[in-house]
Amino acid sequence: MSIGRGLGTGLALALAAMAAHAPLSAEDGDVVLAADTTGTPAERAAQMVAQLTREEKLTLVKGYFGGDFPPTEYVAHPDAIDGSAGFVPGIPRLGIPPQWETDAGLGVASQGTAKIKRPRTALPSGLATAATWDVELANQGGRMIGSEARADGFNVMLGGSVNLLREPRNGRNFEYAGEDPLLAGRMVGAQIAGVQANGIISTIKHYAVNDQETERGVANFLLEEDDLRMSDLLAFQFAFESGNPGSVMCAYNKLNGDYACENRFLLTQVLREEWDWPGYVMSDWGAVHSTAKAANAGLDQESGFGLQRDDHFGDKLAEAVATGEVSEERLRLMVTRILHAMFDKGVIDNPVVGDESLIDFEANRAIAQADAEAGIVLLKNAGNVLPLAGAKRIAVIGGHADKGVLSGGGSSQVYPDGENAVPGIEPTGWPGPVVWYPSSPLAELRALLPDTEILYADGSDPAAAVRLAQETDLAIVFGTQWSSESIDIPMRLDGEQDALIAAIAAASGDTVVVLETGGPVAMPWVDDVEAIVEAWYPGRMGGAAIANVLAGMVNPSGHLPATFPVALDQMPWAGEVRRGHVTYEEGATVGYKWFDARGIEPLFPFGHGLSYTSFAHRGLTARARGDGIAVKLTVTNTGEIAGGDVVQIYVSAPWAGWEAPQRLGAFAKVQLEPGESRNVELEIDPRLLARWDLAKPGWQRKAGSYTVTVGTSSRALGESVQVDLDTLHLGPGWKPGG
Ligand code: BGC
Repeated sequence: MSIGRGLGTGLALALAAMAAHAPLSAEDGDVVLAADTTGTPAERAAQMVAQLTREEKLTLVKGYFGGDFPPTEYVAHPDAIDGSAGFVPGIPRLGIPPQWETDAGLGVASQGTAKIKRPRTALPSGLATAATWDVELANQGGRMIGSEARADGFNVMLGGSVNLLREPRNGRNFEYAGEDPLLAGRMVGAQIAGVQANGIISTIKHYAVNDQETERGVANFLLEEDDLRMSDLLAFQFAFESGNPGSVMCAYNKLNGDYACENRFLLTQVLREEWDWPGYVMSDWGAVHSTAKAANAGLDQESGFGLQRDDHFGDKLAEAVATGEVSEERLRLMVTRILHAMFDKGVIDNPVVGDESLIDFEANRAIAQADAEAGIVLLKNAGNVLPLAGAKRIAVIGGHADKGVLSGGGSSQVYPDGENAVPGIEPTGWPGPVVWYPSSPLAELRALLPDTEILYADGSDPAAAVRLAQETDLAIVFGTQWSSESIDIPMRLDGEQDALIAAIAAASGDTVVVLETGGPVAMPWVDDVEAIVEAWYPGRMGGAAIANVLAGMVNPSGHLPATFPVALDQMPWAGEVRRGHVTYEEGATVGYKWFDARGIEPLFPFGHGLSYTSFAHRGLTARARGDGIAVKLTVTNTGEIAGGDVVQIYVSAPWAGWEAPQRLGAFAKVQLEPGESRNVELEIDPRLLARWDLAKPGWQRKAGSYTVTVGTSSRALGESVQVDLDTLHLGPGWKPGG
């Protein structure tokens, strides 16, 4: 299949230029081509930039949207890949290839404007992957989607995303990795490393505090610096350290008064002066509001001209450089950073080829399925009604379970091979379409349980669904919630599904609810059903993954990466999603930290997740090591079947100065055969033992006896031990091992 116009053009030019000149040395003014592999990425970037004219430099700092965009009558750059997110021209004379950019964190997306929607392998949602608590799986998923991007000719991927789940109604929560900085940062960092293992650049986003979609382009989010450092920025910091992304995308919103893409604090003080990060900052699509202010604050590249209506880094930047408002030196630095990432990540030495026959769809689907299976969370299982056994007649109801599984909408939308399994659901245009992947839980269940009669009602006639449930031994009701970029959504299932579930639960015997949601939802029927399975948006192979968990082929091992509140009034903010100047009064007290600090009982706590087997945690020890704490314990599978346990280590300070009574300090996913024991060693990062100190910038730890506890959720805590720690101050740029 064609992937649109122009893919080969830019590449061909770049390759032709490389072929025309054998690599030369830098002596006597000779041209040195990008393909000359002498030197470090920093040296090569410096050498390249020294050869660029001002005009060429300006070429590299302005990106174009990858598809025609009718509202602005924009026609895509001819060398862009059709329907892609973006394109930045290269410099053929020096063999610097263009940057072909694609969304996003769940797979190779197609923009709504795409002439042909590229069918690619969709991972489960970011929240589902976070629910695996398995950095290896996150890394594998990153490798998989990066390999598809590479095969499509993309060398810049616009994911992963690490915005914290502060607002359960955020329509993009499904793209992100939950509420905890450590879990979110480590999972997304692992994914980024996986993407980049393909010799392409991965882009961490949306930097920073784009934690809701309501007024994302205009609202000003206000957070005290210490709170910011201990929450949203810490998630980014962990992801930077484990993922080492080549680029970061600054967000649409304002943070503490300045737009993120012209925010000196974010772009220069934190990224450069403190974290010493060498990559480049690209804007979100349409997030640039100034020329000199943005460039001087630290923005290196404007993205998506066409969708970015006011073009700030085109002629306006040329003029600003000509007048000295933006210095030549600043322009040089912007380009150096872009080139550094291109050299460092392999974009230049290992050019993308754009040959989709390189994609092994079968292998990639297996990865998507393994991820979905490991991320499904068994929330409730009264009377061990799951895995399914013994029922002769089962009713499957609702959620289009006969056709497929739901996915989240917006720029990250990955399209499946074949048709949308449930076409025509509104909105069919932006922020839709609503896409259902053709992986039917019903069909998969029937295949797994040939001796069970499995009947289906679509739920559109509640009375008929109730009758069906009454005629069977057990009812499985599917509940869905669609969400998308650019909108926020109610914290509940769509339409009348809550009433349907309640009616089925009241009228029939055992009821199992399977949820496909973007994030937390209220469950007014929670006490009336026997089992609840949170399957998130489970990706291209979601139907198979759900069926495997229900039937017991897969032992569920997912744990919640976010608290599920009973109702919004348990959250810091229960009114309409906030607008204008938004003070996030909870500060760093996000998610379980809020519930713990206020003593509120959630519906399901952070870290919760049941299994078909049982685990024991024994012999917990902890001691000071380096600047942090080394933790050891033994995990045993005490049940009858193999399974995956998530070891969660929580840590508390001996004084009341933290944002919450406890923080997640470390975690690990451990797979164990029945009866098997494993010794697990973990490390608590010193920043999780300290507070950000405004008076003496950096991380300040007080001396005292800290409590280290192992839990099966943030509210189910087991053994704990004390560790005496000295006072300690770590500078703002402190990083592990460095
Ligand atoms: C989104 C980004 C995305 C970009 C390009 C924006 O609307 O916020 O996440 O990468 O579009 O499609």
